[in-house]
Amino acid sequence: MMKGLKKWRLFSLLTVMTVFLSACGEDYISTLRPAGAVGKEQLNLLLLTSIIMFAVVIVVSVIYLVAFFKFRRSKTGENHMPKQVEGSHTLEVIWTVIPIILLLIITVPTLNSTFKFGDVAAMDEVDENGNKTALTVNVTAKLYWWEFEYPEQGIITAQELVVPTGEKVYFNLIATDVKHSFWIPAVGGKMDTNVDGINKFYLEFGKESKDLNEGEGVFYGKCAELCGPSHALMDFKVKALERPAFDTWVASMQATEGNTASSESANVGEATFANSCLGCHAVSAVAGPGMGPNLATFGDRNRLAGFMDHTVEATTDWIMDPEFYKPGNTMTGKYNVTEEEAKAISEYLMTLTIEK
Ligand code: CUA
Repeated sequence: MMKGLKKWRLFSLLTVMTVFLSACGEDYISTLRPAGAVGKEQLNLLLLTSIIMFAVVIVVSVIYLVAFFKFRRSKTGENHMPKQVEGSHTLEVIWTVIPIILLLIITVPTLNSTFKFGDVAAMDEVDENGNKTALTVNVTAKLYWWEFEYPEQGIITAQELVVPTGEKVYFNLIATDVKHSFWIPAVGGKMDTNVDGINKFYLEFGKESKDLNEGEGVFYGKCAELCGPSHALMDFKVKALERPAFDTWVASMQATEGNTASSESANVGEATFANSCLGCHAVSAVAGPGMGPNLATFGDRNRLAGFMDHTVEATTDWIMDPEFYKPGNTMTGKYNVTEEEAKAISEYLMTLTIEK
């Protein structure tokens, strides 16, 4: 009975692992399918280390098994005394030098890449007109969402990172409440976002996003530092565009300057939003950092709150009880609306778009 139970447990564990690991193969979220130079180099380091590690395990296991079977008492006889090798210079040199060589093979490329990825000198380079040559994004992690500010372009987004392909994009990383960690599995990372002190690094995006859907080149980013009850729900969207399309997107974002919601509006959703939500959520992408996520491009999202369906129904549910969906978020208890009002707000939010 016990044996059968153990086998069954092992079987279910394997099943769970298979299902779990098969998700690792998705383009939009897999470190094993890198979409950019940094991710590729990180995967190569991972492979190099894993190959050496497996080789060592296999060689040691083979030697162990050979010794195990070759020197059985039943084979060698009761009184056999094997050759004594204690203090053998040759053996000691071999098992000291081989690990040193293996560690060097791992260390040299790892250190080389680590320093390369941390080289952000180009962040401060300017052209003859004094404009920065490289794109920099200021990333701020909050409970439990992400703010992306493009300081040179004067725009800000929440939950959606839009970047150009084929060039280095530099990141300034910081957090406002507790420590989080910025990670785009398919592209590279991760790096901590701390409350005190800015961390910097760069990434390269090698694959263009065809449309807004997963599997069409839209990537997902994650928080990789346990930060509270909704840590696992702190996802964000990453959209990579070719330079001209990216420039168009920036111009459309800049064109939302001055957008606001009016409490006088005949649109119930807009009027209610103006009274209950506008204090924390801006609807113009040309705004400073907000208390809550910037909603200027809410209609362009493909997930709500990082992980929910992007529909009017789900948005209404979210507004009515955010604590239920994302425990510990900082929106809970800051407003009071009826279900009809919440639905009207959701419908209004869906109209905030620059891409459709
Ligand atoms: Cu933020 Cu985990």
